[in-house]
Amino acid sequence: EAAVMTLCAKINGLFCEYSTPRILVVKSWKIGLIYRIYQYIVLVYILWYVAWRGGHQDTDTVVSSVTSKVKGIALTNTSGLGEQVWDVADYIVPPQEDDSFFLMTNMIITPNQTQSKCAEYPTRKSICTSDMNCTKGFKDAQGNGVQTGRCVHYSDSVKTCEVLGWCPMEKKDDPPNPALLADAENFTIFIKNNIQFAKFEFNKRNILPNMSSSYLATCVFNRNTNPNCPIFRIKDIFEETQEDFQTVAVYGGVMAVQIQWDCDLDKDLCVPQYSFRRLDKKDPKSSETPVHNLRFAKYYKNSDGKDSRTLIKGYGIRFDILVYGEVSFPSADYICDFFVRFTAKAYTKKKFTYLDEHELVSIYFLTQFTNTELK
Ligand SMILES: *[C@@H]1O[C@H](CO)[C@@H](O)[C@H](O)[C@H]1NC(C)=O
Ligand SMILES: *[C@@H]1O[C@H](CO)[C@@H](O)[C@H](O)[C@H]1NC(C)=O
Ligand SMILES: *[C@@H]1O[C@H](CO)[C@@H](O)[C@H](O)[C@H]1NC(C)=O
Ligand SMILES: *[C@@H]1O[C@H](CO)[C@@H](O)[C@H](O)[C@H]1NC(C)=O
Ligand SMILES: *[C@@H]1O[C@H](CO)[C@@H](O)[C@H](O)[C@H]1NC(C)=O
Repeated sequence: EAAVMTLCAKINGLFCEYSTPRILVVKSWKIGLIYRIYQYIVLVYILWYVAWRGGHQDTDTVVSSVTSKVKGIALTNTSGLGEQVWDVADYIVPPQEDDSFFLMTNMIITPNQTQSKCAEYPTRKSICTSDMNCTKGFKDAQGNGVQTGRCVHYSDSVKTCEVLGWCPMEKKDDPPNPALLADAENFTIFIKNNIQFAKFEFNKRNILPNMSSSYLATCVFNRNTNPNCPIFRIKDIFEETQEDFQTVAVYGGVMAVQIQWDCDLDKDLCVPQYSFRRLDKKDPKSSETPVHNLRFAKYYKNSDGKDSRTLIKGYGIRFDILVYGEVSFPSADYICDFFVRFTAKAYTKKKFTYLDEHELVSIYFLTQFTNTELK
């Protein structure tokens, strides 16, 4: 026994003692009252914090899918093509409408190209005076073909190096102004957006439950009168960003449609907010106009069986539909904590030791003056 005690002394009682906190219950209405008042202040504060401030909330970010549908018909009347009607299969390139798509508003058309030999479009690098200036097999600087080594007439006054490629060559002209598909200002985009907050298994879509099919057949988004309608007129989108559609339509641009979901599942408030932003805004210090174009071709077989194509350099607007969102909900952990703290009181009662006021005072002085621990 003595040996064990010395061992204990050596290791500072690390393995030989067990201490547990003890709670004193003081029988005093003054201290009790102060304690209760303090407890209620804390309780009221916590309830206010949870209910109104939304503190201690669990959050999650949005997972989203977007599909869109552009509607509208444009009529053009040009010397080259005559009267032509453009529908959605003509002006959405490539034909895919999801969270990013290209709506063609203007174009330079080079019809009837075939694989053959012809004079390159005249630029500083392609103009020549003799065959000496052209290198056979050289891949042309404009990326249009392979040089044959001959210098030929492009027009009566200009000679350029001949290339093997898709002929005749596209002219490096400015796009038509006003834009060919000026009618596109009245096209509409119907955006369908499904979102999910995976953590809460919460799904929602931007077509609200109270929207009937007859409402969706006629409504057009308007920030003041119709802020929930998911159908947007192109001209209105540009007006919201203080841009003029007809000006942007000539050279093209990039426009963002932003869908903001800020959901409060507590209050069952979950309606998206729409906003718009031009993403390729012109730098006021630069004279360069933003340009957005892409080339594509339509292929067919000539009567002689050779492949031909119509090359289109399309200028247009790329729409990027961006979905943001956050949801918040009071945290389950926090609520559990809250209840445990209150119910725990019931079973901890067993551990309580009762003292009266006089005992408390004497114990207090005892510990103060002798500086010994209460054991
Ligand atoms: C197209 O232009 C031609 C000649 O400029 C004209 O005769 C014709 O009426 C126009 N068509 C339309 C639909 O405006
Ligand atoms: C296309 O080119 C071929 C020869 O290259 C010509 O015979 C035909 O008339 C052209 N077609 C058009 C519509 O210009
Ligand atoms: C073409 O070649 C000739 C002779 O080599 C030269 O004098 C002339 O400057 C060249 N022209 C161009 C446009 O490069
Ligand atoms: C677009 O529609 C409005 C009203 O319906 C009409 O006044 C305007 O001329 C149309 N714009 C074009 C380019 O057709
Ligand atoms: C549908 O409900 C939203 C709010 O939940 C309301 O703002 C909107 O006006 C309603 N739309 C229609 C067409 O009733």
